[in-house]
Amino acid sequence: MELHETLRAYRRYAGVYDVAFGALFASGRREAVRRVNDRPRQRVLEVGVGTGLSLPLFRADARVTGIDVSPEMLAKAREKVARLKLAQVEAILEADAERLDFADDGFDAVLALYVVSVVSDPARFGAEVRRVCKPGGRIVIVNHFSSEQGPMRRVERALAPFAGRVGFHADFPLDRFLRESGFRVAERKPVNLFGYWTLLVCVNEK
Ligand SMILES: C[S@@+](CC[C@H](N)C(=O)[O-])C[C@H]1O[C@@H](n2cnc3c(N)ncnc32)[C@H](O)[C@@H]1O
Repeated sequence: MELHETLRAYRRYAGVYDVAFGALFASGRREAVRRVNDRPRQRVLEVGVGTGLSLPLFRADARVTGIDVSPEMLAKAREKVARLKLAQVEAILEADAERLDFADDGFDAVLALYVVSVVSDPARFGAEVRRVCKPGGRIVIVNHFSSEQGPMRRVERALAPFAGRVGFHADFPLDRFLRESGFRVAERKPVNLFGYWTLLVCVNEK
């Protein structure tokens, strides 16, 4: 999706996002955060943090930076951090995951939850995420990838031309994403309702 389409879509979603997508995507978020909660004092970057629904799940000694391009989604995340007094959140910043301002190798782990089918250029996104993550660090992704067959395949194809309006690419095959982003998958697991979404744990190779 183009950046202006993302900004427009998530400006519209921000007010209703937690009600519409909070519970629906919750188990995928929990599984993802559990992967980085297994070690103490991890410096974590969450790209496309949205309204911050994952933030209360991080252990108290984590040091989490959340970024997003949408000011309206970030306002909700900041409000949650303040209301819930989330001391593990170091910063919530307006930034583009495809053009990160962080130094190389600065994070132990990077999370991208329901984001990779929204970014404009998976190759640029992959290069930036791999650059800021330490060698051997974990990159944890949850997303829906296109079904290989069956009735959902037809629905995804039909939705493809409307990505800008719905706010994500419905027709988004995993093999193409992995080829373009350069991520190496160490674990893959179906998550959420009917296992329709996928958790990927990737190990950062430089
Ligand atoms: C479907 S929402 C997911 C929000 C949250 N991660 C969750 O678990 O619900 C996608 C989010 O990615 C953000 N986003 C899209 N492209 C981005 C980019 N290039 N850089 C940073 N954030 C981006 C959108 O603004 C939106 O808040």
